[in-house]
Amino acid sequence: MTPRPRSIVVLTGAGVSAESGLGTFRDKDGLWTKYDLQDVATPEGFARNPVLVHDFYNARRRNLVEATPNAAHAALAELERRFDGDFLLVTQNVDDLHERAGSQKLLHMHGELLKIRCERCDMVRPHRDDLDLVTACPACGTAGSLRPHVVWFGEMPLYMDAIDDALALCDLFVSIGTSGQVYPAAGFVADVRRRGQAHTVELNLDPSDGFSLFAEKIYGPATDVVPAFVQRLLATT
Ligand code: APR
Repeated sequence: MTPRPRSIVVLTGAGVSAESGLGTFRDKDGLWTKYDLQDVATPEGFARNPVLVHDFYNARRRNLVEATPNAAHAALAELERRFDGDFLLVTQNVDDLHERAGSQKLLHMHGELLKIRCERCDMVRPHRDDLDLVTACPACGTAGSLRPHVVWFGEMPLYMDAIDDALALCDLFVSIGTSGQVYPAAGFVADVRRRGQAHTVELNLDPSDGFSLFAEKIYGPATDVVPAFVQRLLATT
């Protein structure tokens, strides 16, 4: 463990929610082995077949409301609470398990499954039920203009300025439960290394595509390795 960090950025991916029963994308039975992401996670797919896209996200929304946060989510919320320096949790996940575990300093760079957006007036609001093609936007009244507030491939991730600012200042960058295959998140570790002032750690089930860029690597299920890492970190800070 390096000396006491003053500013921590944590990045999470689908692996942190895997043990809560939510699927990952690229593991052997992941979502992209069952659906073509071009059909359900692109604006073109939504324009081509909005019913299929609503069915896909309705099923994920129903699955999410049945899921519960796991020990890895709880450990990250405890780290935020007890760490006395700057802390930011950036998640690629669209589930709300970090929030339900108590995380507050949290940015969803790929949007949120339990929110909807109007393609006509850009209204964003919480929404836990199924979405369909006829419900009218509660803000502008347009029927059929509502979509999941999720960032699709080809769209700009959210909060990138705030994320870049935090990455520029951090002296500890921790990547958890992500395959490191989707940019810009997969490039965060290289951004941090280029500035040369941060310790970089990967916690994952298996080595990610970017594993060689991390100074420290800890492999195992998130519910094992994340609480242990957080306790060790809090003991030194
Ligand atoms: N504990 C820790 N890591 C795990 C666990 C677990 N129990 N189970 C799986 N993993 C790891 C896998 O080894 C893999 O490296 O989680 C990672 C999941 O990778 P992906 O399925 O590619 O998910 P992610 O990296 O979050 O995908 C990034 O791609 O499809 C888009 O927008 C989507 O946000 C998503 C982005």
